[in-house]
Amino acid sequence: MARIALITGGMGGLGEAICIKMAALGYQVVTTHSPGNTKANEWLAGMEQQGYKFRAYPCDVADFESAQKCIAQITQELGPIDVLVNNAGITRDMTFKKMDKVNWDAVIKTNLDSVFNMTKPVCDGMVERGWGRIINISSVNGQKGAFGQTNYSAAKAGMHGFSKALALEVARKGVTVNTISPGYIGTKMVMAIPSDVLESKIIPQIPMGRLGKPEEVAGLVAYLASDEAAFLTGANIAINGGQHMY
Ligand code: CAA
Ligand code: NAP
Repeated sequence: MARIALITGGMGGLGEAICIKMAALGYQVVTTHSPGNTKANEWLAGMEQQGYKFRAYPCDVADFESAQKCIAQITQELGPIDVLVNNAGITRDMTFKKMDKVNWDAVIKTNLDSVFNMTKPVCDGMVERGWGRIINISSVNGQKGAFGQTNYSAAKAGMHGFSKALALEVARKGVTVNTISPGYIGTKMVMAIPSDVLESKIIPQIPMGRLGKPEEVAGLVAYLASDEAAFLTGANIAINGGQHMY
């Protein structure tokens, strides 16, 4: 039977590419969308036209109860989740001087609390079955910091602390936990950056001189999810065009 891969935020730029890649490899692909997303059915229909039959469930990843309900429904309707990709995320960029509690909380809840909320209801099952993959999509800006992103950099750095600690706890149980830290990838999240800032301050910092492609990150997710990657755990893999080497 096909393994089940749950990719949160599958209707975004990176998420869509990950869903497509995983489907091409034979996984049964399940995704989530925000409860308020009115374009979910349109997206599903568009994907079906391209030959991909995805399942999608509403879920506010920032809310523990919503995450629990969503995972329970998926498990009941389709079966247990084998691969969890914590991909959903937001930015609320502003300098620390302007940063208020609302925008701090929104980013921490959506990008970091979400990792707890989604992993908690799936991890024990993976351990019991002796196989599982948890892949957390962090960011180069969690590794190096970024101007205007105290909230986002903190949340993304926290994701990797989580990966390392959980990786230790489940290492003997066939479950791996890893972080991917992409650099700037051409999705709507990056296109929201003022174009003068993108052109003058960001692209020049990327030795390859271009943004990354969602498919390039999806390929790495697919590798981490595979049986071949069984010995790889607790890692934070950078994929950033050479922007940050450590
Ligand atoms: N480095 C150095 N200085 C910068 C800067 C940068 N990256 N970005 C802005 N500044 C400077 C401006 O030049 C300006 O300087 P002066 O006052 O000397 O002219 C000053 O900061 C502006 O400060 P303000 O508080 O007035 O801020 P603002 O309202 O103009 O907006 C900002 C500041 C929100 C940080 C805006 O510049 C911005 O959106 N920058 C992009 C932040 C960014 O990289 N976000 C990544 C989003 S994509 C993503 O997060 C995906 C991922 O994981 C990689
Ligand atoms: P995107 O196109 O804006 O997609 C973000 C996705 O997250 C959307 O599908 C959105 O779903 C979902 N989401 C946001 N808040 C949610 C919530 N509360 N509950 C459920 N879903 C929610 O962004 P992206 O560029 O693909 O980014 C995907 C991930 O990669 C993020 O975690 C981001 O931080 C990370 N990342 C991106 C880059 C980059 O350069 N693009 C670089 C490094 C890391 P709805 O549309 O249904 O709201």
